[in-house]
Formats: sequence, C-alpha cells, structure tokens
Amino acid sequence: MRATARAQPNIALIKYWGKRDRDRNLPAVGSISLTLDDLYTTMDVELDGALDRDELRVNGRRAESMLPRVARCLDAVLGADRLCARVTSESNFPVAAGLASSASSFAALVVAASAAGGRARSVGELAGLAGRASGSAARSLYGGFVELRNENDGIAVSTILEGDAWPLRIVAAVTSQAPKPVSSGEAMEASRRTSPFYSRWVEEQGMDLSTARDAIAVRDFGKLASVAEHNCLKMHSVMWASRPPVVYWNAATLACLESVRALQAEGVAAFFTIDAGPQVKVICPPGDEPRVVDALSSTDGVEAVLASGIGSGAALVNGD
Ligand code: PMV
Repeated sequence: MRATARAQPNIALIKYWGKRDRDRNLPAVGSISLTLDDLYTTMDVELDGALDRDELRVNGRRAESMLPRVARCLDAVLGADRLCARVTSESNFPVAAGLASSASSFAALVVAASAAGGRARSVGELAGLAGRASGSAARSLYGGFVELRNENDGIAVSTILEGDAWPLRIVAAVTSQAPKPVSSGEAMEASRRTSPFYSRWVEEQGMDLSTARDAIAVRDFGKLASVAEHNCLKMHSVMWASRPPVVYWNAATLACLESVRALQAEGVAAFFTIDAGPQVKVICPPGDEPRVVDALSSTDGVEAVLASGIGSGAALVNGD
C-alpha cells in the first residue's frame, strides 16, 4: 500500500500552450521535449485506512494549496472510493518557478499511486493520467527526446530519439525563486480567449513540430536551435499580447538572452528556451557547456546555474 517513484522534469523545445478540452486537460497543440536527468522529484504515496483526509508534504512542509490537485490525480488513478493517502514530495530544484516541477511531480505521482494501489498500467495509460493533472507531465513518463501528439480523443506520447543517441546538455539559469504570479493553466486560458496571436500559434504548430522532428532525426543542431527559439518567442508573444498581459520574464531573463546571443556570435553552439517562468534554459553540446555555464553565471541577476544531461522516464524506486 506504499510506493515511491522518481521522475525528472522535461523542457519543451516545441511548446504546449493552450487547451482544446479544459475538462480533460487536453492540449490544443502537440509538443516536443527533452527529459532531464540531474533534476528530479521523488514522490512517496502511502494509502492508509486510518487517515480521514489526504495529507501532502512538499520538501518537508505541508502543502495545502496543492492538495486538491493531487487528490484529483489520486482519484483519477485509483478511483474516487480509494483510501486516503499520505503523499510526500521532495524535489532537488526550486518548485513552481518555471523549472517544470509540476511535470516531474505528477509523473512521479501517477507511477507511485498506481503501484501503491496495486494497479498495473501501461506507460501510455500513466502518461494520459499525468497529462490530466498537468499537460507537460505526460512527457516525463518517457526519456530522451519525447513527442506528445494529439490524437482524436486523447494524446499519444513516445520517445522519438534516446538521449544517448544525441547527448545534449541543458544549462538552466535561475533568475528568481519566487512562485509564478499566474499559473500556466490560467495564463493559457487568457491567451486562448484574448490574444490576437493565439489562433496563428495553433495553426503554425504542425510546421514547427515537423521541422524539429526532422532536425532531431538527423541531429541537426542549427536547425533545432532555430525552430526552438522561434517557437519559444512565439509562445511568449502570444502571452504578452493577452489581456491582461502575461509576462513571466524579468530583467535577468532578458540579460540571459543577450548572453546567449553573444555566445552564438562567438561561434558557441547554444540556444535558449523559456517556459512559464523567468528561468532561461540553454541547450548545447557537451563541449560547449563550460562556456555556457560561465556566461550565464556571470550574467547580472542570475542566482544559480544548474546543469543536466538527458535522462529517462518516470520509474518506481520501490514499492510493496
Ligand atoms: O503542464 P503545464 O500546465 O504546467 O504547462 C506547461 C507549459 C509550458 O511549460 C510553458 C510549455 C511546455 O510545453 O512545457
């Protein structure tokens, strides 16, 4: 009745932004991501008949505000007639600040919960359940380069290239550890309702996905860099043009982009991407990592620099 799972966050190169079905949390567009290895969330789920309500601790503290979302996810995995659960989550990186902690958390939660409840499920089913809690979490069930495709009635997620076939590095510049001002769910909805660029964003996604897929297949770094930066800036343009506007960036975010542009001008192979938060993630081949780490560490306003390789999908650590 107890199990522990570990999952890594993933960083989208071609982004998910917007929902086509809010009740089932289905994305409006497909996406392509990289699953990390050195950053992770460990989730322990214990089903206990002696409890009269669910309990959640995140990094040692009670987390009441996240509890309803976690409880809904447990209901989806185990059924609403399940026992109450004691859930403990530990992440080795800042949560709720655009480093995709919801992805690693919900991916680990569905794996741990289904093992604790003795339910055998395929990885595809687990991805569907994680995606209902957090769209990007579905991708953290898989390792390497991962594509999430929209299917008629749901999603289909798969690894399109193993990480060791193209071992890129991801360097994240943390520019603020404050929780984000607007959740990605609310911001997506504001974009869908009010941004004049939203429909164009959805229309063009197929083209960006296909360019990225082709670039990954032949390991063409320049082509992947160009489409990933374009897709990221397009997503943020959709947000900026929403009413009220959604701006996750701070001054250091922009300073990091300038640092990346300076590196590129010096011939360093590196490109940036930014999610629903002010952190900047830079992707580069291993040989260029020291230059990227140096440049980001000395950029004004950068509080910490974390580096990671490409990792594997969510997995059980132990269970009984
Ligand atoms: O999974 P959510 O609901 O936190 O949405 C995440 C959206 C982005 O991180 C901005 C993009 C993506 O594809 O991960």
